[in-house]
Amino acid sequence: MIVAIDGPAGAGKGTLAKSLAAHLGYPHLDTGALYRATALAVLRAGGDPDDPAAAERAARSLDTAILDSPDLRSAEVGAASSKVAAIPAVRAALLDFQRNFAHRPPGAVLDGRDVGTVVVPEAEAKLFVTASAAVRAQRRHQELQERGEASIYARVLADIEARDARDAGRADAPMRKADDAVEIDTSDLSPSDVFKRALAVIEAAG
Ligand code: C5P
Repeated sequence: MIVAIDGPAGAGKGTLAKSLAAHLGYPHLDTGALYRATALAVLRAGGDPDDPAAAERAARSLDTAILDSPDLRSAEVGAASSKVAAIPAVRAALLDFQRNFAHRPPGAVLDGRDVGTVVVPEAEAKLFVTASAAVRAQRRHQELQERGEASIYARVLADIEARDARDAGRADAPMRKADDAVEIDTSDLSPSDVFKRALAVIEAAG
Protein backbone atom coordinates (compact mmCIF):
# COMPACT_ATOMS: atom_id res chain seq x y z
CA MET A 1 0.00 0.00 0.00
CA ILE A 2 1.15 3.55 -0.78
CA VAL A 3 0.38 6.21 1.83
CA ALA A 4 0.52 9.80 0.52
CA ILE A 5 0.62 12.65 3.02
CA ASP A 6 0.51 16.25 1.83
CA GLY A 7 0.15 19.62 3.51
CA PRO A 8 1.87 22.90 4.29
CA ALA A 9 5.08 23.46 6.28
CA GLY A 10 4.85 22.81 10.00
CA ALA A 11 1.50 20.99 9.97
CA GLY A 12 3.01 17.83 11.42
CA LYS A 13 3.27 15.72 8.24
CA GLY A 14 6.85 14.66 8.92
CA THR A 15 6.19 13.45 12.46
CA LEU A 16 3.07 11.62 11.28
CA ALA A 17 4.77 10.07 8.26
CA LYS A 18 7.66 8.73 10.38
CA SER A 19 5.41 7.18 12.99
CA LEU A 20 3.08 5.64 10.38
CA ALA A 21 6.04 4.20 8.47
CA ALA A 22 7.47 2.67 11.66
CA HIS A 23 4.07 1.23 12.57
CA LEU A 24 3.44 -0.25 9.11
CA GLY A 25 7.04 -1.40 8.60
CA TYR A 26 7.31 0.66 5.38
CA PRO A 27 10.13 2.95 4.29
CA HIS A 28 9.44 6.68 4.49
CA LEU A 29 10.40 9.36 1.97
CA ASP A 30 10.40 13.00 3.00
CA THR A 31 10.01 14.44 -0.51
CA GLY A 32 10.61 17.99 0.77
CA ALA A 33 14.18 16.93 1.59
CA LEU A 34 14.81 16.45 -2.14
CA TYR A 35 13.81 20.07 -2.84
CA ARG A 36 15.77 21.28 0.19
CA ALA A 37 18.84 19.33 -0.97
CA THR A 38 18.51 20.85 -4.45
CA ALA A 39 18.29 24.34 -2.91
CA LEU A 40 21.26 23.70 -0.62
CA ALA A 41 23.39 22.47 -3.54
CA VAL A 42 22.54 25.64 -5.50
CA LEU A 43 23.38 27.88 -2.54
CA ARG A 44 26.64 26.05 -1.84
CA ALA A 45 27.69 26.50 -5.45
CA GLY A 46 27.02 30.23 -5.08
CA GLY A 47 24.01 30.05 -7.44
CA ASP A 48 20.60 31.71 -7.38
CA PRO A 49 17.66 29.41 -6.40
CA ASP A 50 15.48 31.28 -8.89
CA ASP A 51 17.83 30.41 -11.78
CA PRO A 52 16.18 27.49 -13.66
CA ALA A 53 19.40 26.20 -15.27
CA ALA A 54 21.37 26.14 -12.00
CA ALA A 55 18.48 24.53 -10.11
CA GLU A 56 17.86 21.87 -12.75
CA ARG A 57 21.56 21.00 -12.82
CA ALA A 58 21.54 20.61 -9.03
CA ALA A 59 18.40 18.43 -9.08
CA ARG A 60 19.81 16.16 -11.81
CA SER A 61 23.10 15.60 -10.00
CA LEU A 62 21.79 15.35 -6.46
CA ASP A 63 24.31 13.67 -4.15
CA THR A 64 22.42 11.59 -1.59
CA ALA A 65 25.01 12.48 1.11
CA ILE A 66 23.59 16.02 1.13
CA LEU A 67 20.23 14.60 2.32
CA ASP A 68 21.78 14.04 5.76
CA SER A 69 23.16 17.56 6.09
CA PRO A 70 21.85 19.46 9.14
CA ASP A 71 21.92 22.58 6.92
CA LEU A 72 18.89 21.16 5.10
CA ARG A 73 16.67 22.34 7.97
CA SER A 74 17.76 25.99 8.10
CA ALA A 75 15.26 28.76 7.44
CA GLU A 76 17.38 29.98 4.50
CA VAL A 77 17.27 26.59 2.79
CA GLY A 78 13.52 26.30 3.55
CA ALA A 79 12.83 29.55 1.71
CA ALA A 80 15.13 28.66 -1.20
CA SER A 81 13.55 25.19 -1.51
CA SER A 82 10.14 26.58 -2.43
CA LYS A 83 11.85 28.69 -5.13
CA VAL A 84 13.58 25.73 -6.79
CA ALA A 85 10.35 23.73 -6.35
CA ALA A 86 8.46 26.18 -8.58
CA ILE A 87 10.77 25.32 -11.53
CA PRO A 88 9.13 22.58 -13.68
CA ALA A 89 12.47 21.07 -14.80
CA VAL A 90 13.43 20.57 -11.14
CA ARG A 91 10.15 18.80 -10.38
CA ALA A 92 10.53 16.61 -13.48
CA ALA A 93 14.08 15.65 -12.49
CA LEU A 94 12.93 14.44 -9.06
CA LEU A 95 9.78 12.60 -10.13
CA ASP A 96 11.09 9.16 -11.14
CA PHE A 97 13.02 8.72 -7.91
CA GLN A 98 9.86 9.44 -5.89
CA ARG A 99 7.67 7.14 -8.01
CA ASN A 100 10.15 4.29 -7.86
CA PHE A 101 10.44 4.67 -4.09
CA ALA A 102 6.65 4.55 -3.72
CA HIS A 103 6.18 1.45 -5.86
CA ARG A 104 8.68 -0.85 -4.17
CA PRO A 105 7.00 -3.67 -2.19
CA PRO A 106 5.62 -3.96 0.41
CA GLY A 107 4.63 -0.28 0.37
CA ALA A 108 5.80 3.19 1.35
CA VAL A 109 4.87 6.38 3.14
CA LEU A 110 5.69 9.62 1.30
CA ASP A 111 5.07 13.13 2.53
CA GLY A 112 5.21 16.42 0.67
CA ARG A 113 2.99 18.85 -1.26
CA ASP A 114 1.98 16.96 -4.42
CA VAL A 115 2.36 13.31 -3.46
CA GLY A 116 -1.36 12.46 -3.67
CA THR A 117 -2.03 14.70 -6.68
CA VAL A 118 1.02 14.26 -8.97
CA VAL A 119 3.65 11.83 -7.69
CA VAL A 120 1.36 8.88 -6.94
CA PRO A 121 -2.28 9.81 -7.60
CA GLU A 122 -2.90 6.03 -7.49
CA ALA A 123 -1.97 5.89 -3.75
CA GLU A 124 -4.52 3.87 -1.78
CA ALA A 125 -4.47 6.12 1.31
CA LYS A 126 -4.23 9.91 1.05
CA LEU A 127 -4.09 12.42 3.86
CA PHE A 128 -3.97 16.20 3.74
CA VAL A 129 -2.54 17.47 7.02
CA THR A 130 -3.06 21.14 7.88
CA ALA A 131 -2.99 23.56 10.83
CA SER A 132 -3.49 27.30 11.13
CA ALA A 133 -0.54 29.44 10.02
CA ALA A 134 -0.18 30.80 13.59
CA VAL A 135 0.10 27.31 15.09
CA ARG A 136 2.54 26.17 12.39
CA ALA A 137 4.71 29.26 12.88
CA GLN A 138 4.77 28.72 16.64
CA ARG A 139 5.91 25.10 16.16
CA ARG A 140 8.64 26.09 13.68
CA HIS A 141 9.80 28.94 15.92
CA GLN A 142 10.15 26.57 18.87
CA GLU A 143 11.96 23.98 16.72
CA LEU A 144 14.48 26.59 15.46
CA GLN A 145 15.08 27.85 19.01
CA GLU A 146 15.60 24.32 20.29
CA ARG A 147 18.23 23.85 17.59
CA GLY A 148 19.97 27.01 18.77
CA GLU A 149 19.06 29.10 15.68
CA ALA A 150 18.11 32.72 16.35
CA SER A 151 14.40 32.98 15.58
CA ILE A 152 11.78 35.74 15.67
CA TYR A 153 8.16 34.53 15.69
CA ALA A 154 6.84 37.30 13.41
CA ARG A 155 9.50 36.50 10.83
CA VAL A 156 8.81 32.76 10.98
CA LEU A 157 5.09 33.50 10.43
CA ALA A 158 5.86 35.79 7.48
CA ASP A 159 8.18 33.12 5.98
CA ILE A 160 5.52 30.42 6.37
CA GLU A 161 2.88 32.60 4.74
CA ALA A 162 5.22 33.46 1.86
CA ARG A 163 6.11 29.78 1.39
CA ASP A 164 2.42 28.71 1.51
CA ALA A 165 1.59 31.33 -1.13
CA ARG A 166 4.45 30.16 -3.40
CA ASP A 167 3.64 26.47 -2.91
CA ALA A 168 -0.11 26.86 -3.47
CA GLY A 169 0.19 29.48 -6.21
CA ARG A 170 2.74 27.91 -8.55
CA ALA A 171 1.53 26.66 -11.94
CA ASP A 172 3.26 23.25 -11.82
CA ALA A 173 2.05 20.78 -9.16
CA PRO A 174 0.73 23.34 -6.67
CA MET A 175 0.10 22.25 -3.09
CA ARG A 176 -3.48 21.06 -3.11
CA LYS A 177 -5.65 18.53 -1.30
CA ALA A 178 -6.42 15.63 -3.64
CA ASP A 179 -10.17 15.15 -4.10
CA ASP A 180 -9.95 11.73 -2.47
CA ALA A 181 -7.66 12.79 0.43
CA VAL A 182 -8.91 12.94 4.01
CA GLU A 183 -8.06 16.25 5.69
CA ILE A 184 -6.76 16.34 9.27
CA ASP A 185 -6.42 19.73 10.98
CA THR A 186 -3.75 19.27 13.66
CA SER A 187 -4.09 22.75 15.25
CA ASP A 188 -5.71 21.37 18.40
CA LEU A 189 -4.57 17.73 18.24
CA SER A 190 -1.68 15.96 19.94
CA PRO A 191 0.68 13.94 17.71
CA SER A 192 -0.83 10.73 19.08
CA ASP A 193 -4.37 11.87 18.23
CA VAL A 194 -3.23 12.73 14.71
CA PHE A 195 -1.61 9.29 14.44
CA LYS A 196 -4.82 7.52 15.55
CA ARG A 197 -6.96 9.41 13.03
CA ALA A 198 -4.52 8.76 10.23
CA LEU A 199 -4.26 5.06 11.06
CA ALA A 200 -8.05 4.78 10.94
CA VAL A 201 -8.01 6.25 7.42
CA ILE A 202 -5.29 3.81 6.32
CA GLU A 203 -7.06 0.80 7.83
CA ALA A 204 -10.27 1.81 6.06
CA ALA A 205 -8.33 2.05 2.76
CA GLY A 206 -6.53 -1.28 3.10
O1 C5P B 1 8.26 19.89 3.55
P1 C5P B 1 9.39 20.86 3.48
O2 C5P B 1 9.13 22.13 4.23
O3 C5P B 1 10.70 20.26 3.85
O4 C5P B 1 9.50 21.22 1.92
C1 C5P B 1 10.37 22.22 1.46
C2 C5P B 1 9.82 22.80 0.16
O5 C5P B 1 9.89 21.83 -0.87
C3 C5P B 1 8.35 23.23 0.22
O6 C5P B 1 8.16 24.55 0.64
C4 C5P B 1 7.91 23.05 -1.23
O7 C5P B 1 8.16 24.22 -1.97
C5 C5P B 1 8.80 21.97 -1.77
N1 C5P B 1 8.11 20.69 -1.92
C6 C5P B 1 7.38 20.49 -3.07
N2 C5P B 1 6.79 19.29 -3.31
C7 C5P B 1 6.90 18.30 -2.41
C8 C5P B 1 7.61 18.50 -1.20
C9 C5P B 1 8.19 19.73 -0.98
O8 C5P B 1 7.26 21.39 -3.89
N3 C5P B 1 6.32 17.12 -2.68
